[in-house]
Order: sequence, then C-alpha cells, then structure tokens
Amino acid sequence: MGMDAAQKMDQQYRYQRYVYDLSRKYYLLGRDALLNEMPVQPQETVLEIGCGTARNLVKLAYRYPEAELYGVDASAMMLDTARAKLQGTLYEKKITLKQGLAGQISYRDFGLDKPFDHIVFSYVLSMIPGWQDALEKTLPLLKAGGCLHVVDFSDQQTMPAWFRRVLLKWLEWFHVHPDPEVPAFLEQLAARHDDQLRMRHLAGRYALLAHYQKKGIPDEHQPDLPQIPQYLDF
Ligand SMILES: C[S@@+](CC[C@H](N)C(=O)[O-])C[C@H]1O[C@@H](n2cnc3c(N)ncnc32)[C@H](O)[C@@H]1O
Repeated sequence: MGMDAAQKMDQQYRYQRYVYDLSRKYYLLGRDALLNEMPVQPQETVLEIGCGTARNLVKLAYRYPEAELYGVDASAMMLDTARAKLQGTLYEKKITLKQGLAGQISYRDFGLDKPFDHIVFSYVLSMIPGWQDALEKTLPLLKAGGCLHVVDFSDQQTMPAWFRRVLLKWLEWFHVHPDPEVPAFLEQLAARHDDQLRMRHLAGRYALLAHYQKKGIPDEHQPDLPQIPQYLDF
C-alpha cells in the first residue's frame, strides 16, 4: 500500500461521495448495531479507520458528547466531504480527521501521547488488500484493555447462492472484496495474544460484527491502590 491506494480511493469516491450516506444506508448493514454495542466512557478516545464521510463518527459524537473522536481515511476527497458536513456544527471541534492508510498510522499523528481506547473498522477491511497486516499493525494503537470493533460483509452462507454471486460481482465494481477468512483470522489473533473476542452475524450472515478486546494490564502491573485505613473499613 502507498499513495496508490489513496489515489484509487479518491478516484472511486470522487462522485460517489455526494450520494454516499444516502445510498450506503441500504446495504452497509450492522453499522448502527456495532456503534450501539460500543461501551465508550466519557473522555475515552475513539479512532475510526476508513471513516469516509464521518457518518459513524457523527453518530458517536451525538451519543458520547464527552468522548474524543478521530478519523483517518485514504481518500482526501472523502475527508473533504466529511469536513464540509461537520463545518459549523457542534461536532466540528470534537472530531479530528486526517488522511492516512490503515496500518501506516500512529496515535502520535493526532498529537496524542497514548494509544486509543477504541478503534473502529466499518466496511473498510473488505477494501484493504492486505487487511491481515493492517489489523496486526493496528493492535499497538490500542491501549491495554482497549477494543477493536469491526463490521463488514460476511459470507452470506444462509442466503441463496445467486444472491451471494450477484452481491460479490456488484461489490467488485466498488473494489470491495469480502474475505470469509476474517472471523478465523480474528480468532487466531485473539488466541495468539490472549485477547478476547465476541463475534456475531446479522441478516442471514450478510454482515459480521466483531468486538476484539485487548488484554488488560496484568494485576502485578496495576498501579498500587492506596491502602484503606482500618478505621474506614466498615
Ligand atoms: C465503504 S467506505 C466506509 C466508510 C465508513 N467507515 C462507513 O461505515 O460509512 C470505506 C472507506 O474506507 C476508505 N479506505 C479504503 N481503503 C483504505 C485504507 N487502506 N486505509 C484507510 N482508509 C481506506 C475509503 O476511502 C472509504 O472512505
């Protein structure tokens, strides 16, 4: 991946970005379910990788007014549309956007000195040719105990075969290549790092939702809590 990926995305979204939010509403299923399942605490940080028009970030900003929200996207044009949407709204100062590629960004690019509490991949893994590498390189951007949230196309195994064929052909025109190996890869990743994973499918396995939680700080590394004096022990 390099500037080619960014140029390719700009080409793809040059005109589509104007109808993006309206058209994707009908087939990028499970995005709201994923956002609803994210337990964001006040002052926590959330990064969306491949944030597009900031549709998800705006919803998160509405729901969690005290969270700090960040978005990165390969396409400068999509980010222009996102910024135009945010301009003059309450969310303009709450959401920070940057151009960049999955797997090639750091929390320091946003001026932060510590990793994120949550990272979201919403319908972007299926657009990244080396999605495995992008996921592995994203884990260090999450704090210990932090969560990675993924929603994307699944394998449509319980839907008619013709539907799956038509869907995949149609998605190809948009450079979208869902990989049915995503769940197995996430399971292996979680097992390898001793992390936790919850996954479920939606709408006849049309979409996959995954919440991956990085292992917390082991007890022996927890900061020492002050001892409670005995006279307060009641
Ligand atoms: C299908 S859109 C999803 C947008 C948004 N996440 C949503 O759910 O509405 C995919 C977005 O990912 C971006 N994208 C594709 N490949 C990327 C990469 N390698 N790194 C960062 N962003 C990427 C595209 O430019 C596009 O804005």
